[in-house]
Amino acid sequence: MAWNNVLCVYYSRTGNTRKAMEEIAKSLGAELAELEDSVDRSGWGGWLRCGVDAMRRTLPPVKCASRFPLTDYRLVIVGSPVWAGRCCSVVRSFLKQNGKDIRNASYVLTRGCEDKNEEIFEQMDRYTPCGHRTAVSLRAGSVGYAFWQEEFLRQTQEFLRTAGR
Ligand SMILES: Cc1cc2nc3c(=O)[nH]c(=O)nc-3n(C[C@H](O)[C@H](O)[C@H](O)COP(=O)(O)O)c2cc1C
Repeated sequence: MAWNNVLCVYYSRTGNTRKAMEEIAKSLGAELAELEDSVDRSGWGGWLRCGVDAMRRTLPPVKCASRFPLTDYRLVIVGSPVWAGRCCSVVRSFLKQNGKDIRNASYVLTRGCEDKNEEIFEQMDRYTPCGHRTAVSLRAGSVGYAFWQEEFLRQTQEFLRTAGR
């Protein structure tokens, strides 16, 4: 299999998570797949819908166009923006549908506020029986952004080096 057997799958409404996941996928030589949302989240109405969906833990229909079944990947890195202190509902839906098929998971959150919201990693683990191997919370434009992204890459590469194929 090409792509180093690693999948980077994400949802992004305004581009921050996309940028982070593109950089991570490039560094790891991983396949990149954007989740296809079924809901119009544009404008203020869309912003509000995101918040309400996150609070209500709504599960919108979602599609993941990975090249191979999820069980084929050695590691699936899941990227989500923080919505109302939770993972976004598109990623929640993806994990609910597919979490059991993920052999090893890593998480990338992007956020707007100071608080890292790291408790979301444990929330996401509820859908992935394997739990997460590595995780990072990134704030776009913050001083520590590059440092924490590098640290995540280092830990993830270490996991890939030591774990079986
Ligand atoms: C409805 C909504 C709720 C949000 N709630 C939070 C929050 O609780 N904490 C936070 O740090 N950022 C919050 N944000 C900001 C986003 O997490 C942040 O801008 C993120 O990087 C957006 O990612 P994206 O550009 O990939 O969509 C919220 C954004 C939206 C749209």
